[in-house]
Amino acid sequence: MRGFEFKMPAKVKFGEGIVNEIGAILKGMGYTKAFIATDKGIVAAGIAGIIEEGLKAGDMPYVLYDEMIPDPTIEIVDEAAEVLRKSGADVCLAVGGGSPIDTAKAICMLQTNEGSVRDYLFGAKNLKTVNNPILPLVCIPTTAGTGSEMTAASVITNNQEKTKVSVTHEYLIPKYAFIDPIVQAGCPPFITATTGMDALTHAIESYISNRSNPISDAMGMQAIKMIGKYIRRATGAGAFDMEARSNMAVAATIAGVAFMNGGLGVVHGIAQTLGAFVHIPHGVANSLLLPYCMEKSVVGNMEKFKEIAIALGKNVEGMELRDAAFAAVDAVFEMAEDLNVPMRLSELDPAKRHCSEPVTEEIFQAVADDLMNYRLLADTPVKIGKQECIDILNAAF
Ligand SMILES: NC(=O)c1ccc[n+]([C@@H]2O[C@H](COP(=O)([O-])OP(=O)(O)OC[C@H]3O[C@@H](n4cnc5c(N)ncnc54)[C@H](O)[C@@H]3O)[C@@H](O)[C@H]2O)c1
Ligand SMILES: [Fe+2]
Repeated sequence: MRGFEFKMPAKVKFGEGIVNEIGAILKGMGYTKAFIATDKGIVAAGIAGIIEEGLKAGDMPYVLYDEMIPDPTIEIVDEAAEVLRKSGADVCLAVGGGSPIDTAKAICMLQTNEGSVRDYLFGAKNLKTVNNPILPLVCIPTTAGTGSEMTAASVITNNQEKTKVSVTHEYLIPKYAFIDPIVQAGCPPFITATTGMDALTHAIESYISNRSNPISDAMGMQAIKMIGKYIRRATGAGAFDMEARSNMAVAATIAGVAFMNGGLGVVHGIAQTLGAFVHIPHGVANSLLLPYCMEKSVVGNMEKFKEIAIALGKNVEGMELRDAAFAAVDAVFEMAEDLNVPMRLSELDPAKRHCSEPVTEEIFQAVADDLMNYRLLADTPVKIGKQECIDILNAAF
């Protein structure tokens, strides 16, 4: 077995309604003022209000900042970092999906590390390293998706250079994650489905990754099973199926730990590069690309793909290994169909907020060129060059 290192993120607390205790817990940890980092969608959904009540109940002073946006940009991060600096808060409470959590990681980092977030992004000209522990960050994820509450990465969009890159450092791992299905229960079906398939992508990419290890495998496989069993119910029954919501919430968190340690691959690579050209929500891009990228990767590790097929409920008894492995691809195509998520790039519709502008074949070469710079591309179990990327994009078009 290859040697490996495994990072165990900080504390996780799970339970229905635990956000009501947030104020008392933060106070017990010695904090005096919380900075709630969130977005307007979370406020409109009434979730920020639930957190405010939880803070008040524990007599914990706070300020609410709701200027975070989906897929944070350098400018938004630098601006929010300044607001946090002036707030006098000694703990940041990220409430939302991956976007507010990633933004919160970056702004907490900038409280103790000087400069702009631009200087810390992978590939920056005079790249700075994160030298100091960040302002303490506590996360309350409202989507069962990114797993960002467990990871060391913050993904930031650079609009000028049309790139989406991350700042990654162990110091960015949040201190505490509150996993409460109550704040995820009202998540609309389309966001539930696409963010849930993002979590599945984390689980699958880490499980088949060239950098996977027995611990990340165990976590990836567990997340695949839970998501396979509950994603349709969580999407369909919404707030009325707390068992499905709870399982999805925990599975996304597990998948976060799995990919932070095991790696990712071509799905996230193309989603990230394509998303920088025509802004596509992260979950939409991943859910669409996942089965096409799996199709291209199966031969790299047929045994593991067979295990994925079984975990997703396929009966592979009596099948040749190759057929059993490809059954995993069928299972994911069927899931996408059942969840009614976009399955073709050509169908992505700006009017339905699938993307900022229609995807055209003209950008494929440029996406393939940029993909070659993706840090985790080599985690994919088959070699992905420019031609393979274009093949995947054509298949998915
Ligand atoms: N750091 C990491 O490890 C990591 C991993 C994967 C993705 N990401 C990043 O995470 C971001 C995507 O995050 P996301 O997919 O969770 O979506 P998001 O945070 O961008 O949210 C999308 C929309 O859903 C709304 N929303 C979220 N939860 C809701 C709820 N419970 N009820 C009603 N509305 C709700 C938000 O208001 C927002 O408008 C991307 O920027 C991506 O690059 C980071
Ligand atoms: Fe993701």
